[in-house]
Amino acid sequence: MEKNLASEPDRNQITKAILLVGGKGTRLAPLTNHTPKPMLKVAGKPVTEHQIVKARDAGITELVLATSYLAEVFKPYFGDGSKFGLKITYAVENEPLGTGGAIANAALELDLEPNESVMIFNGDVLSGHSLQSQIALHQKANADVTLYLTKVVDPRAYGCVPLDEEKRVKAFLEKMENPIADTINAGCYIFRKNALQQIPVGEVVSVERDVFPALLSKGAGVYGYLDTNYWIDMGTPQSFIKASRDLLMNPHLSSATKGVVGEALIGSNVQIHPTAQVGGGSVIGDGCEISEGVSIFGSMIGENVRVGSGSQISNCYIAPNQEVPDQSVFSDQIIGE
Ligand code: GTP
Repeated sequence: MEKNLASEPDRNQITKAILLVGGKGTRLAPLTNHTPKPMLKVAGKPVTEHQIVKARDAGITELVLATSYLAEVFKPYFGDGSKFGLKITYAVENEPLGTGGAIANAALELDLEPNESVMIFNGDVLSGHSLQSQIALHQKANADVTLYLTKVVDPRAYGCVPLDEEKRVKAFLEKMENPIADTINAGCYIFRKNALQQIPVGEVVSVERDVFPALLSKGAGVYGYLDTNYWIDMGTPQSFIKASRDLLMNPHLSSATKGVVGEALIGSNVQIHPTAQVGGGSVIGDGCEISEGVSIFGSMIGENVRVGSGSQISNCYIAPNQEVPDQSVFSDQIIGE
């Protein structure tokens, strides 16, 4: 039986976290040309806000935002965190350090006890998994690292992470045509300080490609917390639109949407013709005009958009200030960026 790196058990509540929000979000371009992916709004709030609130609700009191791409937009919104009920600081990478390098850089902001563990979140994941249960496994296993894993029907697009009977991670396998497991990395990790210290500081490092394989080869105790509740990675335009729709239709998924959940989230100064129908988890931005006979389903409509009469829009994102001609029919599209 392999030994964990950790010698002392960690029975302490985890109160510190790092949120990785510095990626370029290339798959979501052009939406990410001027707004970093974590600041895009789903169900009316930035993705990062949904995650911060979830972390706070699980007992996190201090959180570092690891920023790089368009780093300057985070602080004006989140400030010192007091509005959100926790302390927020910022670790800025002038050149992106990759997911692993970002973790090592952000960890410098946290004054960690020798045996303390930290939660780490990818900034583009929304999940219904219980952070407390993930923490409980980490502590019970006396793990060095505990990863949140989920199952997907088609794991070919993901690296897969097989587990043994004791929930110990056996391998980190790159994307492959015939995956040997359907369990994948779901983008939320717990690292104990000793495992964090294995990541080189100031270098470009990938947590998936470099850090996890290196920890496994050193015999570290890397465990997988498998949870098949709601999970979405908002890396693509369709999954981004879906996430917004899902949050509005399933109020329990984020307490950041308290009071605004339902079939539709309507901004201020919006005119909706009495014969128009808006639903299915749609967001209508401020100042929009929705004309006669329009149907909008599961879509995100930016500010000051005018939708011409008779148009049918489903599962779309429409950029702000667009003029949608009468009788338009759009589905599963990004319009006007
Ligand atoms: P794509 O370019 O579309 O792949 O998106 P991405 O840049 O967000 O990359 P990916 O989805 O692999 O990133 C996972 C998480 O890590 C996201 O929340 C990113 O914001 C974050 N991330 C990726 N690279 C870096 C980096 O170099 N520095 C920091 N601070 N965060 C990063």
